[in-house]
Amino acid sequence: MIAAEYHFPRGFLWGTATAAHQVEGQNTNNTWAEWEALGHTRGRAGRACDWWAGRWKEDLDRATEGGQNAHRFSVEWSRIQPTPDQWDEEALDHYRRMARGMVERGLMPLVTLHHFTDPLWFAEHGGWEATDAPQRFARFVRKVVSALREYVSHWVTINEPNIYAALGYASGEFPPGLQDPRRAQRVLVGLLRAHAAAYHAIHEVQPEARVGYAWHYRPMQAARPRHPLDRLARRVQYNAFNMGFPTAIVTGVFRSPLGRVRLPEARGTQDFFGLNYYSADVIRFSWRRRHHLFAQRVHPPGSDLSPGGMIANRPEGLFRSLKWASQFGKPILITENGVEDEADGLRRRYLAQHLRATWQAINFNIPVKGYFHWTLVDNFEWERGWEQRFGLWALDTTSQKRSKRPSADFYAEICRANALTSEMVERYCPEAFADVFPAGDLPARIDSPSV
Ligand code: BGC
Repeated sequence: MIAAEYHFPRGFLWGTATAAHQVEGQNTNNTWAEWEALGHTRGRAGRACDWWAGRWKEDLDRATEGGQNAHRFSVEWSRIQPTPDQWDEEALDHYRRMARGMVERGLMPLVTLHHFTDPLWFAEHGGWEATDAPQRFARFVRKVVSALREYVSHWVTINEPNIYAALGYASGEFPPGLQDPRRAQRVLVGLLRAHAAAYHAIHEVQPEARVGYAWHYRPMQAARPRHPLDRLARRVQYNAFNMGFPTAIVTGVFRSPLGRVRLPEARGTQDFFGLNYYSADVIRFSWRRRHHLFAQRVHPPGSDLSPGGMIANRPEGLFRSLKWASQFGKPILITENGVEDEADGLRRRYLAQHLRATWQAINFNIPVKGYFHWTLVDNFEWERGWEQRFGLWALDTTSQKRSKRPSADFYAEICRANALTSEMVERYCPEAFADVFPAGDLPARIDSPSV
């Protein structure tokens, strides 16, 4: 057997990513708590991973013991500012203790300031469509950054603005459950303004800060490459979903089929590019999908699918995504990547194959500085509730008992070695060996137009 190693650069960040509402439990004052109470989710967050009651400590011990050196987490706005004129200093202290706890454990904290949940008062006030939303957000951001700056210098302003707008305002799976593409565009513009306001606010409070946002990018191809409607649907979907927001951050102009908005304050507001990558899409035109811009997303026949069929294992899509992200000329952090897989039958090869794609990108001089696996412990997966299990560790929600999946050991070996080796792949996912350590011609594989 060949013995080979893919080494990562010195100082590479290895971590996992989490989000407040998905792990904390006992959140009652935000839009998701309300959405769950209305019965729109498969189960409710409940105690989640019980982090609010203190279990973040034992889970972060697991991260450190697992060789990680960074952790991405989010703060819950509705706890810190329960009403427009009230700050909860106790809640801020909680997050300070968490950030300090990370530093003490050798985990560099990367803090997300908004991850899908809004305080109820903010939503009642018009959410991100309200003209003063960016100022409100910036006020909150100033408060958090002032409180945590001793321990935190890397910030993600907003997680996946495109998913937030598309699922909340176009497809209706997220609160407020609307199907109105026009409003989805307005929300995206509101989020852009809020990101820009937050970027400037953070740099005022902490000039040395590094600030970005986490973008859910999806490579897309037309199902029938010569079919004009599939090509059109793909192009419209691609531009609307992937391009509008990141382009506006560069140019200060947001373009969509519904018009053009000038946002000079957004120009140049990123110090790193945060990439969330899960899978790639094949797009087919469908008259029935009006709220999705006539696009039907399908997986190619024969795809290596996650148990629920949501994620196709498409590591070449990560390479493409990194190449795409490199056009913005900033260091790149893979802020999320992972797969739902309760039995852990797919996760190990998904991990090995995606890390190989990451290594390839680095060797093509794409500046990838870190990788945050989604996620550490099974958590509350939004509208899918507890049906999907993304954790390196499994969670029994009744007993709060954690059990280690084999992937946790695999990831720990990778993090400790700062490398993925053929020997590890042979032990953890031999079925992927030929793909991860191919004997053939590397450049030919990379250039294959499969995405
Ligand atoms: C979100 C996470 C979510 C993950 C898996 C991402 O879109 O940022 O919050 O849990 O996907 O569903």
